[in-house]
Amino acid sequence: MFEHVPAFAGDPILSLMETYKADPRPEKVNLGIGIYSDDDGRLPVLDSVLAAQQQAIAQQKGKPYLPMEGDAQYRAEVLRLVLGDGHADLTSGRVATVQTLGSSGGLKLGGEFIRRWGSGRIDVSDPTWENHVSLFGDVGLAIAAYPYYDAATQGLRFDNLLAHMNTLPSGAAVLLHACCHNPTGVDLTPAQWDALIATMQARGLLPFLDMAYLGFGDGLDADAYAVRALAASGMTFFLSLSFSKNMSVYGERCGALMVFCANPEEAGRVLGQLKFLVRTQYSSPPLHGGQLVAQVLSDPALRAQWVGELQAMCERMQAMRLALARELQAIWTEDGTQNGGGRSIDFLLQQKGMFSYTGLSAGQADRLREEFGIYVLRSGRLCVAGLTTRNVAYVARALATVWA
Ligand code: LMR
Repeated sequence: MFEHVPAFAGDPILSLMETYKADPRPEKVNLGIGIYSDDDGRLPVLDSVLAAQQQAIAQQKGKPYLPMEGDAQYRAEVLRLVLGDGHADLTSGRVATVQTLGSSGGLKLGGEFIRRWGSGRIDVSDPTWENHVSLFGDVGLAIAAYPYYDAATQGLRFDNLLAHMNTLPSGAAVLLHACCHNPTGVDLTPAQWDALIATMQARGLLPFLDMAYLGFGDGLDADAYAVRALAASGMTFFLSLSFSKNMSVYGERCGALMVFCANPEEAGRVLGQLKFLVRTQYSSPPLHGGQLVAQVLSDPALRAQWVGELQAMCERMQAMRLALARELQAIWTEDGTQNGGGRSIDFLLQQKGMFSYTGLSAGQADRLREEFGIYVLRSGRLCVAGLTTRNVAYVARALATVWA
């Protein structure tokens, strides 16, 4: 019956994870998928999340269905987190919020909404998270790329980006990474966000922010700059976010989609159509993870504890960036090439978030995997959160070898 079904070509991130797991070599290092490990290479359960879990168990509230749009307290707390206390849009009624299955779930719902009710087109950065293209393509949106990363300067092609926005038809959606751009780690400055927002507003575009790494860049408030600037502009925009990384609750699938609308009446209709999409796809979101996130965000003591734990994760990642740079410098000094024959590794310290965009070619990434058991994406993206004090020298030596 299914002779005609083609084999799945695999996913560049999740299938690599499967290959990593099956690799028997004890020295293997997983720098592929965006998952934070502690310095012992273990996936942490944050103490704040554990405390929330213990409270949830003690309260024994039963396990009812959530409403289609998700838990009311969760939705309110997520909005408060991204906008900040006292923001006018906490009470304006113009934001339609739905609890989603991670940010992927929010992107899917938002993409489906845009296909039905919007322009049917979305532009994504060049490059972007591979799944943006698969996911929006599968929804049926027309996808184009806008200029973003400049390999020559390891920075941003901001003028080209702005020029591209001026070519887009009114209503076109534009997918933007709110902070810690995946895969490059290269973000817009606040001044660049302001200029981009003014251009998008003048052009009548629909910004769609993906925020999977809130707090992994310059802190919770600074990383929310784009969201708050867009909210202040009064524009209609989408925001999809995830707690997978910043609360280390990957498998709980905790995310949200927010649509900032023109007014409360419009937000009511948009929320209604999002509820319809939820009902026809999976009916309602799961209960447990959202309860934990809402508890951490609403309890001042747990929230303060979480902010400290988030800060510690960021500091460890920064320390690993520095350690990798130092190890490489030491190898290059020892072999007499000083800086690896002119190769700059400044990017390691400058890029933000979990990833470093190394410039490794697909062939060099294959060599790292085959010869050393070190897994990075074939795009050259390396997850610094998988480095530890034990494996960093080994990784540096392997990098120097494939770069030589
Ligand atoms: C990543 O980019 O590695 C993460 O967002 C995990 C994923 O689902 O791809």
